[in-house]
Amino acid sequence: MKSLLLTLQAAVSEALVAAFGDELADTDPLVAATNNPKFGDYQANVALSLSKKLKMSPRAIAEKIIAHLQIDSISETPQIAGPGFINFTIKPSYLASLLGEVQQSDRLGIEQVEPIKKVIVDFSSPNIAKEMHVGHLRSTIIGDSIARVLEFCGYDVLRLNHVGDWGTQFGMLIAYLREVYPEALTTADALDIGDLVTLYKKAKVRFDEDAEFQDTARNEVVKLQEGATDSRHTWKLLCEQSRREFQAIYDLLDIELTERGESFYNPFLENIVRELDKQELLEKDAGAKCVFLEGFTNKDGEPLPLIVQKSDGGFNYATTDLAAINYRVKEDHANKIIYVTDAGQANHFAAVFQVAKKANILPESVKVVHVPFGLVLGEDGKRIKTRSGETFKLKDLLDDAVKQARKDLENRLEEEKRTETEEFIQNAAQVVGISAVKYADLSQNRTSDYKFSYDKMLSLKGNTAPYLLYAYVRPQGVSRKGNIDYSQLSSENIVLAEESELTLAKHLLQLTDVIKEVEQDLLPNRLCQYLFELSQKFNQFYDRCDILKAEEPQRTSRLILSDVTARTLKLGLSLLGIPVLERM
Ligand code: ARG
Repeated sequence: MKSLLLTLQAAVSEALVAAFGDELADTDPLVAATNNPKFGDYQANVALSLSKKLKMSPRAIAEKIIAHLQIDSISETPQIAGPGFINFTIKPSYLASLLGEVQQSDRLGIEQVEPIKKVIVDFSSPNIAKEMHVGHLRSTIIGDSIARVLEFCGYDVLRLNHVGDWGTQFGMLIAYLREVYPEALTTADALDIGDLVTLYKKAKVRFDEDAEFQDTARNEVVKLQEGATDSRHTWKLLCEQSRREFQAIYDLLDIELTERGESFYNPFLENIVRELDKQELLEKDAGAKCVFLEGFTNKDGEPLPLIVQKSDGGFNYATTDLAAINYRVKEDHANKIIYVTDAGQANHFAAVFQVAKKANILPESVKVVHVPFGLVLGEDGKRIKTRSGETFKLKDLLDDAVKQARKDLENRLEEEKRTETEEFIQNAAQVVGISAVKYADLSQNRTSDYKFSYDKMLSLKGNTAPYLLYAYVRPQGVSRKGNIDYSQLSSENIVLAEESELTLAKHLLQLTDVIKEVEQDLLPNRLCQYLFELSQKFNQFYDRCDILKAEEPQRTSRLILSDVTARTLKLGLSLLGIPVLERM
């Protein structure tokens, strides 16, 4: 169904044409929902923007628009405010009929995009044999939410984990394993090679202090790339070990990903460089093959190159990303590719996209978007660390959130003199703990840094996961108490009269617009803000209006408001990767 916003936009556009002629058909009517009831529910600013062009005062334009508006069934008489804003207050009867439609729809009135388009979301993408760090956690949480929104909108989404499973670090690791753990190179079974991060650190120390070892390591890279059996075998062991550790995190977070690491593109790298050469884009810079970029300069104003083949003949991160774009366009038939990484990689992606376009690897019709995000900081505003000063292990960070959530829950149960089963407590703590971490991340504008604080994210007050989860529990309680099957409610006779009912209904009817916005801007915090305000508005309604004790038709109308609120919260949270609890 069409949202109220779109309906009003269409009506104002029509009135513009009727009043001033066809040449205004493409003018943006500049309609938006207002935050302040003083300005009505929606406001159109188009009269101000047309004043110069039409050589008329905005108020006169507004009057003419209103004279041609046909929205009697939708809005009270539009009012002109200030210099020429047009304010609309939606009629309760119209709100009621839309609410009824939403209640009847199992997608809450949200249409799917047509035709179906293919979108690749490249996210998470940690590096083998290295720690999966908080930056990867952010990418995982944000990328998953973006993928969920696009999936719900009807896109064919491919979630790709572009793991760093190739590169010179493997030469070092294999050479080191050969020395300290020779069995690893020949045993057919998966070996537990222990803590990979420690192994990496030790190998690095060995590498840094011994020139001969460095040669051996470089040699190993060549052997691996040539496909030597024992090198490949060891490489696979390393990848499997990392994969197990990553998977533990994905399981905790309930994240689905298809692994297609850097190594996958290895066979195509040479071709990419050859293609760039054929198109005469390559230049030599200190022995390396590179493409000089437009608009990228160093501090002396000299143009910067994107290196695609190092002087020793090796390929790099950028070459792999060029090959990946080529594959995603030609083989995956992607219409759009979204990359979720920290803001520090913005230049890398801008450079890669530019070269891919120049080389016709990336056609105009395929959109590429880098979705950057800021740092995760500790409560002290510095990079997040444990008390002992080491960087966090992700697994510990998530486990601690669950532990803390459990403590909070046990305290609350004691205060409320409730007893619950161990199963209930464990499940609730798990859901609340993990959701709190996800929500704390998603509710921030992703482009800024954010402070990681268990106390804040687990609080039952404020813009947090527990607050939203609790708002969901309330309407569930109502249906249990009144023995109501929400799906059986008839929406024919909805009446909305109380201020808090109207406010809630209006907010519920903005869901489509918000999801559309997230689909376009890829900013999940917009959805969080919407759900937070929805929870507040529902709580106000719940405090002020009797539901089960009300007379008909109020009773059914209020039950419908509760039902649609619960379903909106459940859907919205699911798009953030957060499940709901029936009780908490
Ligand atoms: N592995 C990289 C890192 O840890 C992220 C990869 C992002 N995706 C890509 N196609 N470059 O920073």
